[in-house]
Amino acid sequence: MTVAVYPGSFDPVTLGHMDIIERTASMMDRVVVGVLQNSSKTPLFSVEERVKMLEKVTSHLDNVEIRAFNGLLVDFVHDCHANVIVRGLRAITDFEYELQMAHTNRVMAPDIDTIFLTTNLNYSYVSSTIVKEIASFDGNLEAFLYPDIAKMVKQKSQSQRKNG
Ligand code: PNS
Repeated sequence: MTVAVYPGSFDPVTLGHMDIIERTASMMDRVVVGVLQNSSKTPLFSVEERVKMLEKVTSHLDNVEIRAFNGLLVDFVHDCHANVIVRGLRAITDFEYELQMAHTNRVMAPDIDTIFLTTNLNYSYVSSTIVKEIASFDGNLEAFLYPDIAKMVKQKSQSQRKNG
């Protein structure tokens, strides 16, 4: 049985992430989407909110499970009884960081392999960071996010502007 972990911040989940999740789910027996809790970045959404958003958009995929994690990714992968880490590559600029992470993880856990999926060209320019910037200027998010997620990002961004 091949179990893959697809880790990330998912702040928020984009159509680009969903493309990777759906394609991974069609190749693997089981996929655990790992949502990083202790990121050095300050997220727009709490880890509970990010998990809920992912559960909503993956509810049609029977072999996908969403879990939050803390600490080292390789420890989480072992905890999930998985043997593969999946990461999406949008452009060559992603590659250096991803390669460094993959090598580091393999040194720490030689039993785990990292595989890369090239992101669908339609979403190769989409990032959560850019989506949050567009939302902060009240721009249209429908090309990048599912409508429900876009609504939540708009609301959160508006309430942050009001309070901050
Ligand atoms: O969506 P992101 O922010 O690009 O995801 C980065 C993530 C979560 C994959 C990475 O930061 C990570 O694995 N963090 C856990 C800590 C860890 O294991 N660090 C060592 C690996 S280099």
